[in-house]
Amino acid sequence: MEQKEDNLKDIISHAKEYGFVFPSSEIYDGLSATYDYGQLGSELKNNIKSYWWKAMVQMHENIVGIDAAIFMHPNTWKASGHVDAFNDPLIDNKDSKKRYRADVLIEEHMEKYRNKIKKDVEKGKKRFGDDFDEEQFLATNPNVLRNQAKIEDIENRMRETLGNGDLEGVYNLIMDLGIVCPISGSKNWTEVRQFNLMFSTELGSVAGDASKIYLRPETAQGIFVNFLNVQKTGRMKVPFGIAQIGKAFRNEIIARQFIFRMREFEQMEMQFFVRPGEEMKWYEYWKEQRIHWHKKLGLGEDNYRFHDHIQLAHYANAAADIEFNFPMGFKELEGIHSRTDFDLKQHEEHSGKKLQYFDPELNENYVPFVIETSIGLDRMFLAVLSSSYKMEDLGEGKQRAVLSLPPALAPYKVAVMPLTKKDGLPEKAREIMDTLKFDFNCIYDEKGAAGRRYRIQDAMGTPYCIMVDHQSLEDNTVTIRDRDTMEQERVAIDQLAQIIGEKVSMTTLLK
Ligand code: GAP
Repeated sequence: MEQKEDNLKDIISHAKEYGFVFPSSEIYDGLSATYDYGQLGSELKNNIKSYWWKAMVQMHENIVGIDAAIFMHPNTWKASGHVDAFNDPLIDNKDSKKRYRADVLIEEHMEKYRNKIKKDVEKGKKRFGDDFDEEQFLATNPNVLRNQAKIEDIENRMRETLGNGDLEGVYNLIMDLGIVCPISGSKNWTEVRQFNLMFSTELGSVAGDASKIYLRPETAQGIFVNFLNVQKTGRMKVPFGIAQIGKAFRNEIIARQFIFRMREFEQMEMQFFVRPGEEMKWYEYWKEQRIHWHKKLGLGEDNYRFHDHIQLAHYANAAADIEFNFPMGFKELEGIHSRTDFDLKQHEEHSGKKLQYFDPELNENYVPFVIETSIGLDRMFLAVLSSSYKMEDLGEGKQRAVLSLPPALAPYKVAVMPLTKKDGLPEKAREIMDTLKFDFNCIYDEKGAAGRRYRIQDAMGTPYCIMVDHQSLEDNTVTIRDRDTMEQERVAIDQLAQIIGEKVSMTTLLK
């Protein structure tokens, strides 16, 4: 774990050094848990958005996208349940004065038992080699069964207490499990309290409850309130989806771990409206689609796992997270929720407007059920960045920092470089750049030794470098260097667009 956390520190400093992510308002010493995306970061972020938007909207005839306002009528949040129920159960340690989410403390405690099971499996694999039958081992090994029973017992108690808002029960569970504060090591806990996560402000110049509005804590509600607008104007037929990318705000108590948990962040959400009774089929469908979208990026299949929710949100009848192996361990990256007809029905009730769909095949009106896919853009950014960052040993005491970003997501696709600043090489390089820049985000660099320029591009994640040398002037060829293999190949200049295009295209990811 320590090594992984050091890895996070290295990633944060790399992100700053190369213009991916800066602490916000840094000249004023920053604002806690708030970050700005720099020149490379905003390109990477835009490419992630584009991959998501294309996969969801462009590749599905029955999904369209919208861009709703951040401010919404305050009744929206009464209807959605966020005013009354968007709370975190918090607990303070009296010795360290640190505040924690009670459910996270319990989840982390359970993770210890899961890790013990994993270790036992690994030991078994080592001992029995090819003869090892993991399924049988998991079903019969006494240590595994004991730890599994402990996990199940905690899960049941969590469901009973958190699910019923029994805060005293949550406190008792923490005490019974002997959970200690990671800072002070003590069990000197306060009682568990609920804390609402929405930011509020006043509309116009009059203060007071009448003008109180909220910064949206999720983009989903902008989709629900527009359900009929889109359905009617787009002549959409159930099943259909509405997608949206936008900012969301939560007054997180424990905002930390770089861009993993922030108070201002971006979500990419899609609500898929289906016939009542068909929601489980579509829930499974979207779980499958979304994990496929992730795995296509090639960040490592073992870096993903599903985690089914024990404590369901107030609107869901099934929910799972796609967890990613971040530098801090496996954590939630995306949520897939079966939200029933809760939101639309609530909005019907609070607005007094019907939000129903007439199904011509069934010849009946109904409020559709909803499957939601919801991914944090910033978390996706961290997943991509952290799994791509490597310090590679080059032998003879040399190292290079390289970002093996999926080429389709890389901020710059190609760097164009003249070998020297004279003999007409810069002019030739500029000519190439001026042709390629219509199709690819290119960067020009003529400063310093070639090797150093290559290293800088490796650290920025640029998949290809084109070097213009004296031979280029004679036969219109250049060398193209691959970031990952560091191999160089001589190719004709008029083939460059095709060669690069094939390698950096998003099409392969989408197919
Ligand atoms: N509309 C459903 C919804 O908002 P959620 O699980 O609360 O569900 C969805 O959030 C996703 O948004 C999470 O999986 C995570 O990636 C991202 N997210 C949530 N809170 C975040 C925060 N404070 N900072 C960064 N990303 C966050």
